[in-house]
Amino acid sequence: RTLSDRSLAAVADLIRSGRAKRIVVMTGAGISTAAGIPDFRSPKTGLYHNLARLNLPHPEAVFDIDFFREDPRPFYVLAKELYPGNFQPTVSHAFIALLARKGLLRMLFTQNIDCLERAAGVPPELIIEAHGSFATQRCIECKTPFPDDAMRAHVERGDPPSCPREGCDGLVKPDIVFFGERLPDAFYEGSSIAAQADLVLVMGTSLTVHPFAGLPRLAPEPVPRVLLNRECVGDLGTRADDVLRLGTCDAGVRDLADALGWRGELESAWEE
Ligand code: OAD
Repeated sequence: RTLSDRSLAAVADLIRSGRAKRIVVMTGAGISTAAGIPDFRSPKTGLYHNLARLNLPHPEAVFDIDFFREDPRPFYVLAKELYPGNFQPTVSHAFIALLARKGLLRMLFTQNIDCLERAAGVPPELIIEAHGSFATQRCIECKTPFPDDAMRAHVERGDPPSCPREGCDGLVKPDIVFFGERLPDAFYEGSSIAAQADLVLVMGTSLTVHPFAGLPRLAPEPVPRVLLNRECVGDLGTRADDVLRLGTCDAGVRDLADALGWRGELESAWEE
């Protein structure tokens, strides 16, 4: 076994003793709900439960590439609400940035498209945005990039832009991975990193969307896997060295920071 027991204190010991220094973090929408961005699947508050007004055939259609081709407007209604710039990182984002600053973060795999990891100061080379992000956009047919400032204006008006290239009338879409699209190469190229982790931290994800949901399994036993989430997800908890800390991610990272003696540093990094 790697841990003395299945507690955050034992995880903190592992980090402090220098035995965990290639930490791989895997995140989802739950780390951003405290910033005011809804997640997808939480009952009542999740986006998929609140899309009735958009008249979709089913909620996930809003992120479906075939549906988008037919009708891009529902996505653009949502894009206006989710567009980066209106939100501040949470203390969970600040914790990941602190791991990076201490040289302990091997890689962050995120499913989030809100760019809050970068905003919190996680270096871009340590982030794999598995589902893309709102940072760039292009034509879905000929892939011609579309300028950022024009995109912002279109999103504010809820008006789907079309391709700027003469002779192409393709729709423009942020470089977010829709259902029916391949994940970025960086995800597949980076997967081996998950297999080399000496500690895995899973935060704020229901682990329901593949292939991302398979990442925690890539860490070989007995590499400890810590779950900071409201509910139990995936196969977390089935291995002897899995540590479950159910509750909010923010409370979880604060407990872990307390155990590490990093709490003051974490709070001041977050307030910056
Ligand atoms: P989900 O909405 O599926 O899951 C969010 C998870 O975080 C749930 O388990 C919640 O219980 C938990 N949660 C919410 N708020 C929390 C908090 N403050 N503290 C702790 N836990 C909290 O979101 P994802 O797993 O990110 O893909 O969803 C995966 C993918 O499905 C998304 O990237 C998106 C979506 O379709 C695309 O759009 C391509």
